[in-house]
Amino acid sequence: MTTADEKLVAAGVDSYLTCEARQQPHWPDAEALQRAVDRLKKVPPLVFAGEADVLRGHLAAAGRGDAFVLQGGDCAETFAEATADRIRNKIKTILQMAVILTYGASTPVVKIGRMAGQYAKPRSSDSETRDGVTLPAYRGDIVNHSSFERDSRIPNPERLVDAYHVSASTLNLIRAFTTGGFADLRRVHQWNRGFAGNRAYAAYDKVAGEIDRAVRFMEAAGGDFEALKTVEFFSSHEALLLDYERALTRIDSRSGLAYDCSAHFLWIGERTRELGGAHVEFMSKIHNPIGVKLGPRSTAADAVALAERLNPDNIPGRITFVARMGADRVRDVLPGIVAGVRDAGASVTWLTDPMHGNTFTSESGFKTRRFETILDEVKGFFEVHRALDTVPGGLHVELTGDDVTEVMGGTAEIDDEGLARRYETKVDPRLNHEQSLEMAFLVSELLSERNQPPLEQFPVDD
Ligand code: PEP
Ligand code: CO
Repeated sequence: MTTADEKLVAAGVDSYLTCEARQQPHWPDAEALQRAVDRLKKVPPLVFAGEADVLRGHLAAAGRGDAFVLQGGDCAETFAEATADRIRNKIKTILQMAVILTYGASTPVVKIGRMAGQYAKPRSSDSETRDGVTLPAYRGDIVNHSSFERDSRIPNPERLVDAYHVSASTLNLIRAFTTGGFADLRRVHQWNRGFAGNRAYAAYDKVAGEIDRAVRFMEAAGGDFEALKTVEFFSSHEALLLDYERALTRIDSRSGLAYDCSAHFLWIGERTRELGGAHVEFMSKIHNPIGVKLGPRSTAADAVALAERLNPDNIPGRITFVARMGADRVRDVLPGIVAGVRDAGASVTWLTDPMHGNTFTSESGFKTRRFETILDEVKGFFEVHRALDTVPGGLHVELTGDDVTEVMGGTAEIDDEGLARRYETKVDPRLNHEQSLEMAFLVSELLSERNQPPLEQFPVDD
């Protein structure tokens, strides 16, 4: 055992090993798993503890209403799609959404990608049967491959190491795009190039034109624009595979504290958030800002207990609750939980995930969501916080920068037939580029109502 690992053990990070861990794959070869884990314990961290601390501060600001969080990306990233084009399109989409929100609501936007590590998926069943053949379920590229063949579906621990390398190359590109000139606000128009002909893009161009003018005016007046050249962009994923997360945990040399250096922000999913479970235990020992998904069966008592367990010192920004109630339940279920957390004095940042409570199968058999229902859950989330005088702190969405057809509705009015045109997701349906911008305009209206009297942003039908 290395000294670094001894320090981690002394910091208590292995206490989770005695708890039940849900949603872990059945690795057929224990030695191969150990070899992968040993390799990962020696690789350089993907992120630094100091960066995670900066994000914690931003999340605290969002919890107070001084910023707004935009967290987005694929349901499941795949290794094959970690290409420059796909990654650039996703970053561009998130940057465009952030510009719409920042400009529309005069609020700093904290940008977090479900990117550079979102490779592990919880599944409702361990296996999948097609035409009488039963194979292990696809659990994300970090475990197995989605194609329905025996060899592809057998969990392969070498994929843990591959996931690290693909995360590293994705993060490298994210850092290059966001600090190397591409994200310069003076290029705000160019992010929209190649997209034309619909209302969301026209509205975006209008905002970009106004930003351009303001920037040129400030430049002429001698303003210093160094700060506009780069943007902060953070990585996140569901901390599902504990072997992987533990192997990428490091002791921060400044503070002596343990951080999971696989991403800046990690969250616990709805299916693994039980109080005595291994995921909560492990996350209680690392010092990153962390999230917990809360579904419609959650209670105020669950949320308060999780906040106490994961944030005993009540540090602002440490805990983000991501509510994913479903549009039909958010107005009934969420108020009691938010009020309970508030009354317990727990400092948390609230995000809405309007995707995961609103999934259904279309008549033609596609797993889909409706744009209008997604939007309705976001509205419900804002209404609940407005009624309780608490803060709606951000939006968590599944999106892609490409022109896919996975979510029904939006101004392009994708219908059941339209879904077949370009349905690519391996797991959950994502907003496409246009639907993402549309969502940003609509949320910017809600956000500016949060902050001040309403502004007209999205052009409504004349
Ligand atoms: C997800 O975010 O892709 C996910 C599985 O969410 P949840 O844990 O909320 O079901
Ligand atoms: Co999903």
